[in-house]
Amino acid sequence: MTDDQHLTAAGNEMSASFLAAQERSNKTAAKLEANPSAFTMLTGDRPTGRLHLGHYFGSIKERVAMQNKGVNTNIIIADYQVITDRDTTENIQDNVLNLVLDYMAAGIDPTKTMIFTHSSVAAENQLMLPFLSLVTEAELHRNPTVKSEMEASGHALTGLLLTYPVHQACDILFCKANVVPIGKDNLPHVEITRTIARRFNERYAKKNPVFPEPAAILSDAPEIPGLDGRKMSKSYGNSIMLGATAEETAKLIKKSPTDSERMITFDPVNRPQVSALLTTAGLTSGRDPREIAEDIGNGGGGALKAFVIDSVNTFLAEHRERRAELAKDMDTVCDILHDGNKRANEIANQTLDEVREAMGMVY
Ligand code: TRP
Repeated sequence: MTDDQHLTAAGNEMSASFLAAQERSNKTAAKLEANPSAFTMLTGDRPTGRLHLGHYFGSIKERVAMQNKGVNTNIIIADYQVITDRDTTENIQDNVLNLVLDYMAAGIDPTKTMIFTHSSVAAENQLMLPFLSLVTEAELHRNPTVKSEMEASGHALTGLLLTYPVHQACDILFCKANVVPIGKDNLPHVEITRTIARRFNERYAKKNPVFPEPAAILSDAPEIPGLDGRKMSKSYGNSIMLGATAEETAKLIKKSPTDSERMITFDPVNRPQVSALLTTAGLTSGRDPREIAEDIGNGGGGALKAFVIDSVNTFLAEHRERRAELAKDMDTVCDILHDGNKRANEIANQTLDEVREAMGMVY
C-alpha cells in the first residue's frame, strides 16, 4: 500500500469503530432510560481550571440528569491527569474545590453522587500494575488522543502521558462502572478499558468475571463555540465561566469580535463569530438561533451582544447564586470531598481484593 492508502485505511478503520461506538452509545442510552438502576456511571474532569458553559452543556447537565434518574453516579476529579501534559500542579487544590462548587451548584447532590479525587484512592491506583500487563506498548502508542496531546504539549512523550489511558481504565473499573459519558476525544480510552476488562476476565476470572465491559455514552449536545467562533477553551480566553460574575460575563461578551454587517444572520460557515454569539444565546435561552437572528434583524453587533449578555446571565443567575452560597462554607465542601474519598477507598479496596483473589495473590 502507498502511504496515502495506509492513511485512508486507518481513517476508515477509525470511522468504522467510531460508528460502532456510536451505535453502542445509542443502545446503552436506551437501556439506561428503561432501567437506570442497573447502571453505574463514572466520568470526570481534570482540575486544570474553572468550568465553562461548554462543560455545562457538553457533560455536567447530562451527569445531573443521570443522577436524578437513579443511576449510580460517580465523578472523579482526575488530579494525576493534570501532570500528563504539564509540569506544574500550581493551584490544584483551589481548582479541585472549585470543581466541587460548580458540580453542586449545577445540581450534583453528593448524597447521591460520589465525588472523589484520583490521588486519594491508593487501591484504585494499584490496579495500574495488573492492567499494564494486559496492554502492549504498540496499543498504547496507537492512541490518537495521546498523540495529539503530546503534539500540543510540545514536550517529549512521558511515561505517564503514554499510559494515562490505563489509569483512566482504573478510574472506570475500580467501581465497576458500566457506562461512561464522554466526548469523542476520550473514546479511545474507553475502548482500551473494554479491552483491559475483557483480557483480565479471560486471563484470571473466567468463571466469575470481575469487571464489566463499560460502554461510552457520547454527548449529543452541539459543541458550544467560544465567543470568537473557535472551540470554547480556557486557553483561548473565549469561554464563559459558570462562576464568573454577571459583570465579568458582560465585559467578555462586549469585547468579543463580530463583523461590520449590521443585519444579523445565523451563518456558521461565513459568519462564525456572529453565529457563535447566536448559538450561545440559543442554548442559554432554549430558542432557535435563527429565530433570535430574525428578531435582532438590523440591530447590529450591539443589539446582538446585549441579547447574549441577558440570556447568558439569566441562565446562570441561579447557578451563581447557589455557588456563592456554597462558597461561604468551604469546610463543608472539604467534608464532602473527604466523604467521597472515604467511600471511593472502600470500593477500591474491595475491588483490589477481588483482583488479588482472582490472581491467586492471597497470603
Ligand atoms: N480524561 C478526561 C478529560 O480530560 C477526564 C477523566 C479522567 C475521565 N478519568 C476519567 C473521564 C474516567 C471519564 C472516565 O476530560
